[in-house]
Amino acid sequence: MEDVTILAIESSCDETAAAVVRNGRTVLSNIISSQIDLHTLYGGVVPELASRKHMEQINQVVEQALAEANIELNDIDAVAVTYGPGLVGALLVGVAHAKALAFAAHKPLIGVHHIEGHICANFIENQGLEPPFGCLVVSGGHTHLVNVKDYGSYEILGRTRDDAAGEAFDKVARAIGLGYPGGPKIDRLAKEGNPHAVELPRAKIDGARYDFSFSGLKSAVLNYINHCEMKNIEINRADLAASFQNAVVDVLVTHAAEAVREYKFGKFAIAGGVASNSALRSAMAEACADSGIEFFHPSPVFCTDNAAMIGAAAYYEYLAGNFAGWDLNAVPNLRLGER
Ligand code: KG4
Ligand code: ZN
Repeated sequence: MEDVTILAIESSCDETAAAVVRNGRTVLSNIISSQIDLHTLYGGVVPELASRKHMEQINQVVEQALAEANIELNDIDAVAVTYGPGLVGALLVGVAHAKALAFAAHKPLIGVHHIEGHICANFIENQGLEPPFGCLVVSGGHTHLVNVKDYGSYEILGRTRDDAAGEAFDKVARAIGLGYPGGPKIDRLAKEGNPHAVELPRAKIDGARYDFSFSGLKSAVLNYINHCEMKNIEINRADLAASFQNAVVDVLVTHAAEAVREYKFGKFAIAGGVASNSALRSAMAEACADSGIEFFHPSPVFCTDNAAMIGAAAYYEYLAGNFAGWDLNAVPNLRLGER
């Protein structure tokens, strides 16, 4: 079969990213312009500022992705773009840019679901990975337990009822004074703490064994901090970070392991920003080894938002002939499996 080379664009949140990916698995370039410094000033992502920054960056990010891949726009086979879910203004910048490029170069346009992109990040460094497999997608905006039945075919087994796992990391990090984004900072600090020092709840949801809830855990951490402050007890931040992280990981791994048993997955993958968490990686690796199944995870650079993962997902849409029209629009609350 002929090679298929896709230019992919991602701008759903606070990274402006473009990548060139061949046959869904080989990354020729992967450019990410992060806005972290800008949003750190405000303790979180400010949507309006994110859109403006995307506008400023997108042209040069795309140019750089093509240059690094040593390819001209004319020589690519399709332009792919994240069209949801995400911040509407941020998504629109990528969608409009992708449409303009595809239209001008007479190339087909492919709309990609952001979560599908996260899942497909696992294909990049694992050339042999093929569906079916189970996947836990844990990011700043999403916590989904997914049955990846085939390329482009997903069944959501469970999702969060309130905060996403990454959101809980970010909020707890802010409460203990670590700043934004909190996940990597908690990960680092937790290495120096005792994960059993502070007792914290693990939420279970009646009648929905694969759903998650992290807001109670977050509140328990905040209550613990208040309690210590009122009683003048010094807080050991490393112990608190380690105990919180342990509670999140415990719930994620327990749900994943149950799904592995029920659905008899032979392979299990993790994806999304929180998938770069060291405690989650080792606990999932151990759980998969215990079940005698293969475990997959992307490198950290492909866990957090990037366009290479969008190029990976787009390849399977290309093969299936799923192209978008010039009326493609940003869909901020797009659901997985919908078009
Ligand atoms: O996938 P992502 O870049 O953006 C969304 O699609 O939401 O995920 C970002 C999230 C943030 O909440 C960040 O705190 C979290 O991933 N994160 C981590 C780690 N690295 C990033 N959480 C825990 N441990 C980490 N090492
Ligand atoms: Zn993401």
